[in-house]
Amino acid sequence: MLKGKKFILGISGGIAAYKCAQLTRLLVKEGAEVQVIMTKLAKQFITPLTMATLSKRPILVEFFNPENGDWNSHVDSGLWADAMIVAPATANTMGKMANGIADNLLITTYLSARCPVFVSPTMDLDMYQHPSTQRNMATLQSYGNHLIEPNAGELASGLIGKGRMAEPEEIVEHLRAFFSNESKDLSGKKVLVSAGPTHEKIDPVRFIGNYSSGKMGYSIAEELADRGAEVTLVSGPTRLDIKDPGIKRIDVISANEMYEACVAHFPSMDAAIMSAAVADYRPVKQAEEKIKRKESAMSIELEANKDIAAALGQKKQANQVLVGFALETENAIENAQNKLSKKNLDFIVLNSLKDEGAGFNTETNKITILDNQNKIEQFALKSKVDVARDVVNELVLKLSSL
Ligand code: CTP
Repeated sequence: MLKGKKFILGISGGIAAYKCAQLTRLLVKEGAEVQVIMTKLAKQFITPLTMATLSKRPILVEFFNPENGDWNSHVDSGLWADAMIVAPATANTMGKMANGIADNLLITTYLSARCPVFVSPTMDLDMYQHPSTQRNMATLQSYGNHLIEPNAGELASGLIGKGRMAEPEEIVEHLRAFFSNESKDLSGKKVLVSAGPTHEKIDPVRFIGNYSSGKMGYSIAEELADRGAEVTLVSGPTRLDIKDPGIKRIDVISANEMYEACVAHFPSMDAAIMSAAVADYRPVKQAEEKIKRKESAMSIELEANKDIAAALGQKKQANQVLVGFALETENAIENAQNKLSKKNLDFIVLNSLKDEGAGFNTETNKITILDNQNKIEQFALKSKVDVARDVVNELVLKLSSL
């Protein structure tokens, strides 16, 4: 359940910080990645060396490295994570979180995080019961943060009552429960995905194609299926295999074939994500025999293919969501906005070939999502698997707002 998930573990200065060693070990054992951020005081309770060794990553404390000025970007960390866990969350740290007092890296990361945040408080009995602490915890919950209630028992002071940080196993259980609910948020939904390039035949041995590998669309199909959707994948020619046997794959070669398959399946779908790099043109004539070489120049007359996304946009019903992609090399936002409205999409996923690591045949992608309510949201450079999760999250939002 937690395999491949990315967590920021924000440790503030409480005696229960020692439990973070075990928490990190459990998460790493599950196959999760953990980035530890500590407050200065937390270093007094558990050493950075222990946490760096267990998390297999250097821990972060300061905004930048004073030796070389290397910046620890709280924005990048906040975008990278699937969830942030603040444990132990002291009264001081919760007060700052509730009121936006951004005087350390843990808090600035919290304020920048778009992911779910889990807060595991710890403190002494009377501090815990103080109205100010109770109010701050209520405020954090009103922000949508998940509170992991402390346990009752003997506290560091010797007093007995509520205030002991939850055990690492309990925190992991909360995370598991959260992600298992999240992971089936598309059950009962039918989604059509187009992926890969199309090949437009010139003669029996040649075609017009493009560099699309299909990875983005396949990652989206897998993510949708993981989250319970019934997926129909219309795929142009790719070298990829589908890992999930539940995905119905329809192989096509040309844009025309892709058009026919998509138009036939769209009416029964709740949503369609058009990630294919469809050839805009095809040769007017397709030679039956191989075209022989001549000394003279040659030209191939092309005619326009149908725009599949636009065709689905025209047929779209009020209970359907249609998503497109835009690959741009210039005026990216403006071009994407035009495609969004021209094709009647609910949102469009823009990637610019100007961004390093984005586009065709890479393992990574850097996207901006633009929707039909004028929202523009930029995402960090991520693996295509993580980008697929962001796209599917947006789809879930759109479906729930219908
Ligand atoms: N698309 C489609 N059918 C086409 C062309 C594009 O379904 N014949 C879809 C793509 O799958 C993508 C979106 O439309 O979701 C935008 O594709 P893109 O190639 O960026 O845009 P075009 O409309 O072809 O515009 P241009 O090539 O001029 O940028």
